[in-house]
Amino acid sequence: MIIAIDGPAASGKGTLARRLADHYGLRHLDTGLTYRAVAAALLARGLPLGDEAVAVATARNLDLSRLDRDVLSAHEIGEAASRIAVLPGLREELVRAQRRFAQEPPGAVLDGRDIGTVVCPDADVKLYVVASAAERARRRTQELVSKGQDAEYARVLADLERRDQRDAGRAVAPLKPADDADLLDTSEMDIETAFKAAVDIVDSVHAR
Ligand code: CDP
Ligand code: CDP
Repeated sequence: MIIAIDGPAASGKGTLARRLADHYGLRHLDTGLTYRAVAAALLARGLPLGDEAVAVATARNLDLSRLDRDVLSAHEIGEAASRIAVLPGLREELVRAQRRFAQEPPGAVLDGRDIGTVVCPDADVKLYVVASAAERARRRTQELVSKGQDAEYARVLADLERRDQRDAGRAVAPLKPADDADLLDTSEMDIETAFKAAVDIVDSVHAR
């Protein structure tokens, strides 16, 4: 079974993906981390974010089994990730690795922006997770503060909205629901309620 989960920043897709993978005994890949890891490596070496050849070469050295969100959670890394995510050659390189991960038994849950549309268009289940921008900014601010990072609600909200616009507006693999995705609005749901709603969707789609 392959479960594809997409949605904007801090909608809760990563938390859901992890819980669903646990529940169904599947592997999990947070594809956002693949973009964040390349961005972090470029930032650390002072390399330009707009150079496709450099970004592709950096992606080739990436070990998908060693990506750690705690190390890559900084705001600036998310911003840089979204800037390099417009490079078609980089996307091609990362999508190839993501597909390899998805195809290994016993199946996987992948979360990102283009899983249901590009990476795994034949996924058994596709969820598109949304929440209001205000609620997503509240969650992300709390998350960053709990990790000891500097985060101010107004700035987090503005940054999330700008990143969503860039992700939804790019020419290649823009953020959007697949035609056959089920929509899950978690604005008023805590994690447990959202998880139960997602399990209901997966079980009902799988039974069809
Ligand atoms: O992966 P994505 O950026 O979509 O979001 P996430 O990392 O799963 O969730 C962002 C933050 O919101 C985390 O700190 C979650 O614990 C929290 N969250 C929440 O408070 N309520 C939800 N229904 C989902 C996530
Ligand atoms: O955690 P959050 O939802 O804020 O972001 P993320 O999932 O870590 O993704 C960081 C950035 O990588 C996004 O803003 C996208 O620009 C890019 N990304 C993408 O283009 N395609 C994916 N499948 C996953 C992430």
